Amino acid sequence: MAPRSLNPCSYLPRRLQIVVSLAIFTIVCIALFGSASPYEIPYQEEISDKAAEYLPKQISNLKTPGWINPFRAPAHAPPVQANSSSGEASWFSDWKWQNPFSSSITLDENRSVLPPLKKRVPIYTYYDGGKNKDQVAMKAEHDLLVIWRRAWWAQGLKPVVLGKPEAINNPLYRTLQNLEVDPEMEIDLMRWLAWGNMGTGILANWLALPMAPYGDPTLTYLRRGEYPELTRYEGLSSGIFAGEKDAINKAIKAALEGKEIAEKKALIEVVPEKIFNVDPQHDAIAFYSTSAIKKYKNIAEKLFNEETRSDGLSMLPELINSHLHTTWQNQFSSGIAVLKPLPEHTSQMVFPAIELARNLSQCSDSPSPSSCPPNREKCSPCVASHPMLITTPTIFRNTSTLFTVGTIPHPYTLASLQHQTDTLNTRFIRRQTKRDEWILAATKELLGTGLSSFSRLTHVKDAIASDYGQSHSLWLTPEKYDSKTLQEDLAWIFGFVIPNDTPDDGRSETPVPGPERRPPPPKPEGKVPDQRALMREKTLLDKSRIALKNSVKPTAIVRDVVEAWNLADTEVWRFARAYNARRRVERLKWDEEEKKFAGGEKGSWGRWWD
Ligand SMILES: *[C@@H]1O[C@H](CO)[C@@H](O)[C@H](O)[C@H]1NC(C)=O
Ligand SMILES: *[C@@H]1O[C@H](CO)[C@@H](O)[C@H](O)[C@H]1NC(C)=O
Ligand SMILES: *[C@@H]1O[C@H](CO)[C@@H](O)[C@H](O)[C@H]1NC(C)=O
Ligand SMILES: *[C@@H]1O[C@H](CO)[C@@H](O)[C@H](O)[C@H]1NC(C)=O
Repeated sequence: MAPRSLNPCSYLPRRLQIVVSLAIFTIVCIALFGSASPYEIPYQEEISDKAAEYLPKQISNLKTPGWINPFRAPAHAPPVQANSSSGEASWFSDWKWQNPFSSSITLDENRSVLPPLKKRVPIYTYYDGGKNKDQVAMKAEHDLLVIWRRAWWAQGLKPVVLGKPEAINNPLYRTLQNLEVDPEMEIDLMRWLAWGNMGTGILANWLALPMAPYGDPTLTYLRRGEYPELTRYEGLSSGIFAGEKDAINKAIKAALEGKEIAEKKALIEVVPEKIFNVDPQHDAIAFYSTSAIKKYKNIAEKLFNEETRSDGLSMLPELINSHLHTTWQNQFSSGIAVLKPLPEHTSQMVFPAIELARNLSQCSDSPSPSSCPPNREKCSPCVASHPMLITTPTIFRNTSTLFTVGTIPHPYTLASLQHQTDTLNTRFIRRQTKRDEWILAATKELLGTGLSSFSRLTHVKDAIASDYGQSHSLWLTPEKYDSKTLQEDLAWIFGFVIPNDTPDDGRSETPVPGPERRPPPPKPEGKVPDQRALMREKTLLDKSRIALKNSVKPTAIVRDVVEAWNLADTEVWRFARAYNARRRVERLKWDEEEKKFAGGEKGSWGRWWD
């Protein structure tokens, strides 16, 4: 037995000694092996080099780098979360998402760890279809509601359209029934009753839209979902409010008890001033109120004339969509970067990204071209002759005024393109190909050349999925490209419909000629591949898509070898694929819920689904 004096715990009673020793042992273990910070995990190049020695005999062991550190791996794979897969992609949402390797947490190489899904704060609008409206007006209002929902969804909130049933559900509704009020006041009170019935959140007019960068302080405040005071915004009258349930219903009560309720037209005019906290400094919300629309003369002329009202209304959706687009374009004054890290043979691979960049840099159709949104009169309107700059850099740059469209290939695709061959085999992979080429090339400037590919993972994941990253970039995986699904998803990611009409011959006769409106593709940096080389790339890309779906030997084995050889590139590819899939599933799930909700008594809004 060790001399008593050497044991620092020896002055403690015997039982405590055991407890304390165990505790110290555990702490040391955690400190050594289980550190929370991903930077401290000893992932080194040596590890991957050692791994190479075993190839291809023990691939299956090597694919899960969890073996590197047995202390980190939980005994059982974490439970499958609801709605956490789509096609081949599956994911697990967890705070540990920035760990270089997902499989050390999910114990499943195909399941990526994504950042936890943020809880979206509800933003409500009240829509009462009303009667005596023609089809044109109804269609326009429906389009406006879709635009409203899309724009707020893209800003990280959960848009909900309320109607009469919610208002009637509020116990305070009875008091309103016994009062004589102006029809305008009645509608305003119905909005408030519906909101009070739902509770904490935001109430917005459906002509009040977010037109500001994702990180704008007002939008950040709204997203947080904690409103210590009932807030309204100076200059926006009843356009938008934020508050908690009790405060909302208190305001309604105050209004219903107000003496002047019979003469006034809106709740904010009858309640005591101190009920609201008024935010004087903000410019994130564009409210197309009557007075704001007056500035767009050609629309105002029609809209405020009883006979042409519907025509005027049907010009609004296009106007608002173009303003949302302009706001986005203004945020990225340095233009759009289409990332192309290994430019020799990847022209065909980044083609969809270039198409997307061209569409984004184009001007949206607008009934009032080169106009600015009501909340930013000093915007720089989109001018067809000076479209946004598109570049194709080989490295990722983290510039706040630059939007990046990345294309992350599966290492199998990349190897096949780089070496211009569709007959990859184990020997070839080991002898002829470099490891993790894509991630090393893409982050060469951002992280220098000294870091291992594993330690770069955290940064690339951050660029894809962090709050800041997701609003400054978009990452595509070329293996699964379906332009129709992509376009639909993109509208909800950006918050506006991206121009995508191929200008046809009929259009080129109009004063703004069609084909000229779309900016040309950027000039490739370096050697321009000829038509034959492009065809070859396309063939290889198609073959790789098929090979990746193939689960039969020997293709499946080669794929496994490629993945084991390029652990970091594979990880990034899976991560981007899962992140995109989850965005889509989140939206579809919400859509499904809303549809159920809108289908019933909702009347006018419900009937526009499908
Ligand atoms: C991961 O996916 C590939 C291809 O879809 C499949 O062959 C493999 O068995 C999957 N691995 C696990 C652990 O499910
Ligand atoms: C990019 O810059 C932002 C802000 O400057 C920072 O928060 C973010 O972590 C950076 N992203 C990467 C991938 O370095
Ligand atoms: C971009 O626009 C073209 C037509 O102009 C269309 O064919 C293509 O699908 C669009 N792509 C995206 C991603 O919007
Ligand atoms: C989500 O999961 C539920 C039940 O598991 C399922 O009924 C629903 O279709 C799923 N939704 C989506 C969008 O996958």
